[in-house]
Amino acid sequence: MISIEQIESIDQLQEALRSQRYIGDRSLTTAIYLSLKLRKPLFLEGEAGVGKTEIAKVLSAVLERPLIRLQCYEGLDVNTAVYEWNYTRQMLQIRLMEASGTVNQEEAIENIFGPDFLLKRPLLQAIDRSTEDGQPVLLIDELDRADEEFEAFLLEVLSDFQITIPEIGTIRASEPPVVVLTSNRTREVHDALKRRCLYHWIDFPAFEKEYNIVLAKVPDAPHRLAQEVVAFVQELRSEDLYKLPGVAETLDWVSALVALDREDLSDEVINDTIGVLLKYQDDIQHVAGPVAQRILANAKMNGSK
Ligand SMILES: Nc1ncnc2c1ncn2[C@@H]1O[C@H](COP(=O)(O)OP(=O)(O)OP(=O)(O)O)[C@@H](O)[C@H]1O
Ligand SMILES: [Mg+2]
Repeated sequence: MISIEQIESIDQLQEALRSQRYIGDRSLTTAIYLSLKLRKPLFLEGEAGVGKTEIAKVLSAVLERPLIRLQCYEGLDVNTAVYEWNYTRQMLQIRLMEASGTVNQEEAIENIFGPDFLLKRPLLQAIDRSTEDGQPVLLIDELDRADEEFEAFLLEVLSDFQITIPEIGTIRASEPPVVVLTSNRTREVHDALKRRCLYHWIDFPAFEKEYNIVLAKVPDAPHRLAQEVVAFVQELRSEDLYKLPGVAETLDWVSALVALDREDLSDEVINDTIGVLLKYQDDIQHVAGPVAQRILANAKMNGSK
């Protein structure tokens, strides 16, 4: 385990990430380093499956802090993201108070709108923690899927790390949590929110990085297979496809080929397993046959360099 204070250099952080099998290049590691040191949320955008979500998980492991995850979707509201009153418990409490015959209206209201009846959802969980528990890593995943109103609400939370509950008051984080936001850029996130964060775009990895990711994540993959697969996927990404394969697909493909005891790629095995890599029939058709053969020939050449 390592605390934020103990991280003294970008190299050290890069090594710590690597120990959790995450390969971060220099620019990404610098963004993470600054986000930790400046205590600013890290806003990550990039293609699907390039390791955005994974960063929050890895940071939680490196810093040994709990991971609190908020998955965004259309219609996500405050009840699901921040807090909700526990109606069932409130009702029960009212019944009990009635039965005991000592209902004082004001007291009753104060009682049932107190902390004991609050259901904390991820954002409140992340903010309302005692220092002993350690500040968590808060992952706000796929923010582009949430509505703009929610984004506006988030703006407030990320500026002051506080949440106001009318019946209770303002709850403020004793120390800001480590915050990672991700977006697949299906829509632009507002400037005001981005301004409160450090921004980093994660691109598809270059050959070297992707090869290192494969070695780290699928250590039992034969080197030749790993090289050919990465070279193949790298070249495949320059094709005009509806959905380009991410690192996640590369890893799945290598694992599938290892499960099939393959030592290298061939036309036949590509044909039989292409569904692990490409998930749209049009893309599969585009690649099938001569295109796959050409890419494979290049991959054999580049992979064995
Ligand atoms: N740099 C990396 N080092 C190690 N593993 C990586 C790296 N990049 C991606 N991966 C692996 O690729 C897979 C996909 O990563 P992740 O889920 O974080 O992608 P994502 O960018 O959040 O994708 P999506 O947009 O689909 O949510 C994971 O299994 C992750 O471990
Ligand atoms: Mg993700």
